Amino acid sequence: MAGLSWRIADEADIPAISDLQMRSIEELQKAFLTPDQIESSKKTMGLDRQLISDRTYFMIEGGGRLAGCGGWGRRATLFGGSHSAGRSDAFLDPDQDPARIRAMYASPDFARRGVGKLLLALGELAASEEGFSMLTLGSTLAGMPLYEAYGFREVSRVEDASGDGFNVPVITMTMPIDRSRAERTVTQSTGEATADTVLRLASARA
Ligand SMILES: CC(C)(COP(=O)(O)OP(=O)(O)OC[C@H]1O[C@@H](n2cnc3c(N)ncnc32)[C@H](O)[C@@H]1OP(=O)(O)O)[C@@H](O)C(=O)NCCC(=O)NCCS
Repeated sequence: MAGLSWRIADEADIPAISDLQMRSIEELQKAFLTPDQIESSKKTMGLDRQLISDRTYFMIEGGGRLAGCGGWGRRATLFGGSHSAGRSDAFLDPDQDPARIRAMYASPDFARRGVGKLLLALGELAASEEGFSMLTLGSTLAGMPLYEAYGFREVSRVEDASGDGFNVPVITMTMPIDRSRAERTVTQSTGEATADTVLRLASARA
């Protein structure tokens, strides 16, 4: 969808992010998980404050409304919220490690309108700007169709990621960065020239 806009999330956005994430978790996973599994998935999903303080988390708006949020990581944590197990704040090496795509959520009101694709392209472009050449992520079942359509491929999966017997899988996926495609996607979705996007990403880093 054209007509979307983006900005870097800050601390003041946390209540709106939490609200959107919860609605997305509860609504958009219904086609993929049972109610018990959705409840269990909350252990491995949600708000990661580190992404906000790293300024690598994006807010997407459409028609003046919050349409989605998601980001990317230059740290080792692969998936989950601040409350999830298995976190590592260690910095990745762009020459050796894939950058992480993190905490992707569309508002149920904006599902299948290109929000997920724009979030991926922004993360891909930002990671490319910092020298990464690969991306990886830990996907929900609900996320897989988006990531497969974008070019990610499964490399492994954990069948019971929450560790509580409800068998909510997390699927590790990877793909090489395709910078020119990411640039085109951002421009088509937002109308913003690539030079301006790159400038705004750089000022988020400064
Ligand atoms: C995964 C998620 C972020 C996708 O967001 P989205 O904005 O609806 O995705 P997009 O509109 O950008 O989809 C782009 C393409 O991906 C594919 N796709 C995305 N969601 C799909 C679905 N549910 N079924 C089939 N294909 C899908 C399609 O090819 C789609 O293009 P099309 O609509 O033109 O056919 C959203 O479903 C969501 O928030 N899910 C719940 C939370 C979650 O599981 N997040 C992932 C964490 S890893």
